[in-house]
Amino acid sequence: MKRSLISRRQFTFGSASAAFAGGHLAVANHAAAAVVSEGKPAILGGAPVRSDPFPSWPVIEKLDEEQFLESLRQKKWCRLYGETTTRLEERLARLMGARHAIGVVNGTNALYAALYVLDVGPGDEVLLPAYTFVATLNAVIQQYALPVFVDTDLETQQLDTSKLESLVTENTRCILPVHLGGNVANMDEVLRVAVKHNLAVVEDACQAHFSEWNGRRTGTLGDIGCFSFQSTKVLPCGEGGAVVTSREDLYDRLHAYQNNGRDRLKGTRDGYLHQGSNLRMTEFQAALLLAQLTRFEQQSRNREENAKHLTSLLKQIPGIKPAGMYPGCTRNTSYVYLARYDERSFKGLSRSAFLRALHKEGIPCGSSYRPLNREPFMEKVLNSRHYRRIYTGERLREYREKSQCPATDVLSKEGLFFSHTMLMGTRQDTEQIAEAIARIQKHAEEIARL
Ligand SMILES: Cc1ncc(COP(=O)(O)O)c(C=O)c1O
Repeated sequence: MKRSLISRRQFTFGSASAAFAGGHLAVANHAAAAVVSEGKPAILGGAPVRSDPFPSWPVIEKLDEEQFLESLRQKKWCRLYGETTTRLEERLARLMGARHAIGVVNGTNALYAALYVLDVGPGDEVLLPAYTFVATLNAVIQQYALPVFVDTDLETQQLDTSKLESLVTENTRCILPVHLGGNVANMDEVLRVAVKHNLAVVEDACQAHFSEWNGRRTGTLGDIGCFSFQSTKVLPCGEGGAVVTSREDLYDRLHAYQNNGRDRLKGTRDGYLHQGSNLRMTEFQAALLLAQLTRFEQQSRNREENAKHLTSLLKQIPGIKPAGMYPGCTRNTSYVYLARYDERSFKGLSRSAFLRALHKEGIPCGSSYRPLNREPFMEKVLNSRHYRRIYTGERLREYREKSQCPATDVLSKEGLFFSHTMLMGTRQDTEQIAEAIARIQKHAEEIARL
């Protein structure tokens, strides 16, 4: 691996702190190393900044193998016969500071279960960000409810809570904020609007394990929190998920829902509690998660430190804007490092050309989500037999008119995703990300001509 070209010797920056627009964002105040941009970009024939891959993910150690094999050999593969899933649930609840956690098959079904037990259904409206993974939207459609898209705060890349209240109608039943990339949505505002209008809150914390809002863990601030343990997540087991709640009534309903409607305490003695599904987590998933949990803190602290360091470096590069955090975000466990790219600072080099050049440097950065309100399949949903039966033409017309998210349109063209594996290495590994970007910027005109 090539040595980093970022050094502290050439320049000193007293403080990298800067006030974002409106002064409402907390920005890490780190003494910044200077970014140097020596060397010819790899896309122009130079040696790449990195020739080694970033750390591989997920991490497997002896404990994972032992616990997985133990689970296999016990032959109690289904949670109905074993105790591992229950142990995991107790552990998760304790670590999160919630009364209850229930393991489920994945994050998507965690969301389905949450909306079902909150009685979200046909005719209801659910407020959700336009800028998120499609599963958040699918959960709303699964209940035949109307997904009402909230635009994005470009400074944090989280849903823009200043738009929330104007979207509330007599049909609104639930707010579904997403804590994108491990960063945290403005929960003070979400909860204020929810309390004022008597709305349920389901936190989609599928990307934010153990992040915090004013010291409280994501997923525990609303009525129900939903988590994903899919392979790429910072707490992985292949496929897996959890719902978290401190409300006893919802716990009973969630527990029944994941187990075909069986009552948690009485089984089926008095019949089923309500309609259910089978979302039961397997004992294998739980065994792996218990092992993965033992190293979460150490991994996350490293990631968080590297993320702060990367912010201090990227803020020196004009045209690259790391996502800020609200003052209430007291911990961002950094599943995805979010930033924006402004081609005007790169001599008009398009984002896709920039990403191609970055990949050549050994930095596999990705681009952003597309706005969900513009997904072509949304029209199919709205034109479907069921939606036309539930919603009048007038209501759907108004809905379409309201579905405008201009900031999300901008972000979808400018967004950059750096996966957490790029923050799992050393400080030097992190510095190479900035170095590669700075190098591309210096040669942007030549690269644009390719
Ligand atoms: C924001 C968000 N919600 C929901 C999900 C769905 O989780 P899963 O893949 O475990 O079904 C994901 C997964 O990436 C996600 O990022």
